[in-house]
Amino acid sequence: MRAARFHEYGGAESLVIEEVTDPHPGFGEIRVRVAAASVNPIDWKLRAGALRQFIPLELPAVPGRDAVGVVDAIGDGVQGVSIGERVFGLGGVTGATAELFLLSAWAHAPDTWNDEQAAGAGLAAVTAMRGLNALGSLAGRTLLVEGAAGGVGSAAVEIAVAQGATVIGTASERNHDFLTSLGARPTTYGPGLAQRLTPLVPHGVDLALDTAASGSLEDLVAITGDPTRVATVADHAGGQRLGTHVVNAENDSALLSVAAELGRRGHYTPRIEQAYPLERIADAHAHAERGRTRGKIVICI
Ligand SMILES: NC(=O)c1ccc[n+]([C@@H]2O[C@H](COP(=O)([O-])OP(=O)(O)OC[C@H]3O[C@@H](n4cnc5c(N)ncnc54)[C@H](OP(=O)(O)O)[C@@H]3O)[C@@H](O)[C@H]2O)c1
Repeated sequence: MRAARFHEYGGAESLVIEEVTDPHPGFGEIRVRVAAASVNPIDWKLRAGALRQFIPLELPAVPGRDAVGVVDAIGDGVQGVSIGERVFGLGGVTGATAELFLLSAWAHAPDTWNDEQAAGAGLAAVTAMRGLNALGSLAGRTLLVEGAAGGVGSAAVEIAVAQGATVIGTASERNHDFLTSLGARPTTYGPGLAQRLTPLVPHGVDLALDTAASGSLEDLVAITGDPTRVATVADHAGGQRLGTHVVNAENDSALLSVAAELGRRGHYTPRIEQAYPLERIADAHAHAERGRTRGKIVICI
């Protein structure tokens, strides 16, 4: 099969397209013929070698953690899915930007999502939902999403609104209309956040989800009044120091099914800033690495 790979840790220019051996599904896995994969921050962090102490890769490696495609092989122990069905989901920390990818968690992709949208849903939705779930019931609560314009943040806004929360989202001003389109009340991040929130939510903020790792976690604890009312998916050290919830994604098919159902009902539609062909994966990584992505960047295979 054709795949993008990097042979050494390095910059986006180290990515090459080449023929590699087809993967075969093991116990509990399915193989999809990939239509599109998404780019997540972990992809370029792994490629650059920034995580090599915690997640050492066997090189060469194919970047990509989540994708959508049509099932073309099914491993032992798998039930509830058939060859030819369109699914989206998560595999290992690498492997998605290829013609074939192994998933260990998946859900049927709703017809309401095109391939680019379904590709953008996997890791972002699972991460957002795990962060939101750590905060308890959202109905009738006011939630602040720090970093609301990114892949995880934009998913969190729509999913929290669907659960009955009033959502305030932070982003740079150029993204405020985007946040409004997701159902959030927008404000800017950075110093003075608490003061800017007062006219937006006079009764205060009940809960906060940090997806930005910008050093603002202490402010979010002060704004909500209690570290257990704050969850972070991005600032692990800060969260541990302050006693907030610290949450990681998991390959969880049940959460993917909830995201798909929200998609079917029109409550969650992954927003795609740009889709790149596989041949331009280096541009896609460079784009994502700038840290200004609105929604998701995806790669069409
Ligand atoms: N724990 C896990 O399992 C897990 C899983 C997925 C992701 N993550 C982490 O979660 C974080 C977000 O991931 P992502 O995929 O959403 O990233 P992303 O899409 O690349 O995030 C880009 C967004 O960050 C916003 N941003 C930049 N600086 C900001 C600041 N100081 N305050 C608030 N927002 C800011 C940008 O908005 P503007 O352009 O408007 O500034 C942009 O929309 C990353 O650190 C990622 O590694 C963790």
